[in-house]
Amino acid sequence: MTTLAGNGGDIRIGVTINRPQREVRLRHADFLRHCIIVGTTGSGKSTTAGIIASQLSKFGIVIILDWYGEFPQIFDRINHKYIHYRASERNKIPVPSRIESIINILEEVLDLTSPQSYILRKVLREGLTSFKEVLRAVDEFEVTARWMVESKYALLRKLDALFTDQYINYLGSANECGLVSVLKRSSREPMVVDLSVFEEYGTRRFMALLVLRLLEEFKSRHLIRDKVFVIVDESHNILTSSKSLLERMMAEVRKLNMGITLITQSPALLSYRIISNSNIKIIHALKSRDDVDVIARSVGSGVAVDKVLPRLGVGEVVVDAPSLVSPVLVKINYT
Ligand SMILES: Nc1ncnc2c1ncn2[C@@H]1O[C@H](COP(=O)(O)OP(=O)(O)O)[C@@H](O)[C@H]1O
Ligand SMILES: [Mg+2]
Repeated sequence: MTTLAGNGGDIRIGVTINRPQREVRLRHADFLRHCIIVGTTGSGKSTTAGIIASQLSKFGIVIILDWYGEFPQIFDRINHKYIHYRASERNKIPVPSRIESIINILEEVLDLTSPQSYILRKVLREGLTSFKEVLRAVDEFEVTARWMVESKYALLRKLDALFTDQYINYLGSANECGLVSVLKRSSREPMVVDLSVFEEYGTRRFMALLVLRLLEEFKSRHLIRDKVFVIVDESHNILTSSKSLLERMMAEVRKLNMGITLITQSPALLSYRIISNSNIKIIHALKSRDDVDVIARSVGSGVAVDKVLPRLGVGEVVVDAPSLVSPVLVKINYT
């Protein structure tokens, strides 16, 4: 069988649906300039991501932010090893060392007003070591103006909801915790960060942003030299409240050799900036007109995308990537 995009294509994803049948490969370096994987629920997105992750791990660190805790099963099915990271008492969650980073994440996740972030900033600057202490410090924070009282209690309610999760109760040291030591091991297996251990979606979101921020920080301080590929499954859960943070990251981490792959069932939520910042587009079946239109506009011609997308079967995709002359119809390998 001949190969499509054979020039440096090191990530084998499947074969063309149309004849003559050819093998389709993508370049790992193109994943450093970001990727989106879209499609309706059950169309095969997570499986596709697992297949890609298993091969990307030869070229760098692969982290999967696993919203529903499905990836261990996917790797078992494709018979590939992985590292399973679940937060626990012994595996505490690290926090970025820059206070600004924590504040930014909390602002996004908790949708903080300016007075609320003002109080949080004051409190965090005191160098507290656990979120329990943060809660107490906010509680004890002396407000001088009456309008601040309301902000203080609103902030307290928001933080309380987030930090009830026991494993989140540590600021810890970013250099000692489980996640970091896993990152520093020279292991070449994809790491699944299981977000499903947290019941609250807000906590999962917080965790996801925390890991993204942490990786960005490690890369920019050269604590990790390898290339980093982060795969964010069910990313609409993060996009709804933190679109701007993801947009900014996608624009900025490119130069750090860090690539982000966003998976979502709701491409209409992806902004033009995110789509145009994604070099690789892998499109599974889409039914809703809005979603089809958004995607059809973003890929090159070559396949009548708007006609094809509603009819794709499970594991069938339209792929657009810099290494391909035009978008192609592919059946993802699943063995
Ligand atoms: N490439 C494929 N070929 C055949 N079956 C697939 C393929 N990808 C996924 N499937 C099947 O479809 C089901 C749903 O896949 P999944 O990756 O969970 O979809 P999604 O993430 O889009 O909801 C899986 O349980 C698997 O059995
Ligand atoms: Mg999925």
